[in-house]
Amino acid sequence: MGDRGGAGGSRRRRTGSRALSQGSGGPVAAEEEVRDMGAGGDAPAPDKDKDGDDDVGSGHWDLRCHHLQDSLFSSDSGFSNYRGILNWCVVMLILSNARLFLENLIKYGILVDPIQVVSLFLKDPYSWPALCLVIVANVFAVAAFQVEKRLAVGALTEQAGLLLHVVNLATILCFPAAVALLLKSITPVGSVLALMVYTILFLKLFSYRDVNLWCREIRATKAKAKAASSGRAANGGAAHCTVSYPDNLTYRDLYYFLFAPTLCYELNFPRSPRIRKRFLLRRLLEMLFFTQLQVGLIQQWMVPTIQNSMKPFKDMDYSRIIERLLKLAVPNHLIWLIFFYWLFHSCLNAVAELMQFGDREFYRDWWNSESVTYFWQNWNIPVHKWCSRHFYKPMLRRGSSKWVAKTGVFLASAFFHEYLVSIPLRMFRLWAFTGMMAQIPLAWIVSRFFRGNYGNAAVWLTLIIGQPVAVLMYVHDYYVLNHEALTAGA
Ligand SMILES: CC(C)(COP(=O)(O)OP(=O)(O)OC[C@H]1O[C@@H](n2cnc3c(N)ncnc32)[C@H](O)[C@@H]1OP(=O)(O)O)[C@@H](O)C(=O)NCCC(=O)NCCS
Repeated sequence: MGDRGGAGGSRRRRTGSRALSQGSGGPVAAEEEVRDMGAGGDAPAPDKDKDGDDDVGSGHWDLRCHHLQDSLFSSDSGFSNYRGILNWCVVMLILSNARLFLENLIKYGILVDPIQVVSLFLKDPYSWPALCLVIVANVFAVAAFQVEKRLAVGALTEQAGLLLHVVNLATILCFPAAVALLLKSITPVGSVLALMVYTILFLKLFSYRDVNLWCREIRATKAKAKAASSGRAANGGAAHCTVSYPDNLTYRDLYYFLFAPTLCYELNFPRSPRIRKRFLLRRLLEMLFFTQLQVGLIQQWMVPTIQNSMKPFKDMDYSRIIERLLKLAVPNHLIWLIFFYWLFHSCLNAVAELMQFGDREFYRDWWNSESVTYFWQNWNIPVHKWCSRHFYKPMLRRGSSKWVAKTGVFLASAFFHEYLVSIPLRMFRLWAFTGMMAQIPLAWIVSRFFRGNYGNAAVWLTLIIGQPVAVLMYVHDYYVLNHEALTAGA
């Protein structure tokens, strides 16, 4: 982008000679031609003669207008400033989407309806089952805390502690799932939100247990070392403002972790020195704006496209199905990009700023991914960090191969993706599970056959096309299961 001069600059330096050289082709030009040839034709001849004066025979005028040079689009030219073309792409994108926007408005009118959004969360204004579920989640956090407290003082053996944690963690997954499946008053959207809270709680308490266990192991090793070299002075750790095990076992510390924008527990999180009010305000405004935008785009753009896709699916009209899929890919992808920014930049930064949580690496440059592996390492850092720290590395340390450990992580991730979709929809189709597991062969194919920009394009393509395929599959099955069954019953 900064390469503004480039080849264009070198051309402009020579424009002064144009008027003179066009009119004359005499001895001076001939002399120059000879000199250019003498240089082997590799590069344009220098503008000055051997005495350092201006060109021979032209005084201070340069009579040449042609030089040995490549066209800008040739890769040999080394030209890389395509800023204008990028702007053109943006202008074209805005124009074509403005047309789509108008077409959509003419066809469907205004579909955005904030009241309808409320009905997605609540069936009955006097019954808030999802919120009740979220409040009950505290019980499991407190249970994990109490187990850790007893383990720290040796009131529980490690085996008994492990058993209690396993029961607690299993209940965290089973209890909300049972409620979501059995309770008729809970809506699918309310159910997704409650299950997400429970999934996050599961991952956090898993990490909480692991880190406290590691601390106990370190404490035991230190105690042995201390006993071996008794009399050596303490290292003065108490003078630091850091917390050491088991002083971290307080409700304040637990709840700081539960609300902090991370899934990995630490005794001493890095903290930012103060709350930046303007930064926080910007993030809050972004949250508000992008929430509205996402809801508007889903109601106005995605829902009608999905509804129009049902007939081709019913008739098994493949060409129309593909056409619908490609049509859905645009709003779906746009909403996903907005969702990414909304969640990973606006929301997590707002929470982090409020809590003075210092580590703001919630995402890395996944948009430059040239491989599927790079994408999964960089798009969702909280989940990737948890997977790597609490699942992948422990498996490697126990002697599993990298391939087995990676497959294990993707299996767990596939399970949670399916859990978050199937239970709220009360429909088990395994599309999300398959989509996640397909990442392993996909990663191999992309790394084997595509490199550089082609690899990057392949990653974008899988993101743009893969997601609407899964969305259409679920919506189609949900539609068939609920609406067609109802019509048949009527
Ligand atoms: C599975 C996954 C964790 C693998 O991560 P990866 O970075 O590709 O794995 P790598 O083999 O390159 O190494 C990861 C870490 O293990 C370490 N490691 C490698 N071999 C090791 C060994 N034998 N023993 C201990 N550690 C080892 C590496 O040093 C590296 O450490 P670092 O992260 O501190 O640098 C990652 O692909 C992932 O997070 N996948 C799931 C993502 C997901 O489901 N996200 C859901 C988002 S909605």
